[in-house]
Amino acid sequence: MKIVAIVGSIRKDSYNMQIAKTMVERYKEKLNIEIADIRSLPYFDQDEELNPPQSVKEFKDSIANADGVIIITPEYNWSVPGVLKNALDWTSRVERVFLNKPVMTLGATPGQMGTIRAQLHLREILVAPGIQARVLPPGGNEVLINMVNQKVDEAKGEIVDETTLNFLDSKINTFIDFIKSN
Ligand SMILES: Cc1cc2nc3c(=O)[nH]c(=O)nc-3n(C[C@H](O)[C@H](O)[C@H](O)COP(=O)(O)O)c2cc1C
Repeated sequence: MKIVAIVGSIRKDSYNMQIAKTMVERYKEKLNIEIADIRSLPYFDQDEELNPPQSVKEFKDSIANADGVIIITPEYNWSVPGVLKNALDWTSRVERVFLNKPVMTLGATPGQMGTIRAQLHLREILVAPGIQARVLPPGGNEVLINMVNQKVDEAKGEIVDETTLNFLDSKINTFIDFIKSN
């Protein structure tokens, strides 16, 4: 199964990127997860939407060709980071590549609340008319990783907390079933 992972942080030591990389490796037997490059996307410009830059075309094509998308994002000021919203805005016009696309969302923060406010905003964005993704329903499926700084091995750059990994394993299986049920 082909999955695109979109990470809502472009900082070098991003915890959310560490989760994405952990997932690429941990689930490689069952999923081919490719991490999208959103750093190279320019600011969304409606004047450019009919003939967007190559980076936008590649980003949109990768989503169009994927069986599903996993969005892994921090919370910035109680919402999603601008880089993630910018990426999603590109996908919402002309070829609307998220239409009916199975999407799972998760997020991590060193804080207590596990990105819950960002996740709620993200869910609203994902059902906007231009996006209309098929989002994994929240009941029991929210992956909110709090105090993430205590759950990673900074040297290895990966999640090592067993409880978190076991929960992630179970939710990934739920997402695979969700994709297959399309
Ligand atoms: C501009 C900004 C706003 C932030 N706002 C929040 C917030 O609303 N909630 C939260 O839990 N953490 C917030 N944080 C802390 C982030 O969770 C923390 O920097 C985290 O490591 C970012 O994710 P990353 O490691 O994947 O880059 C904020 C950080 C920045 C830089």
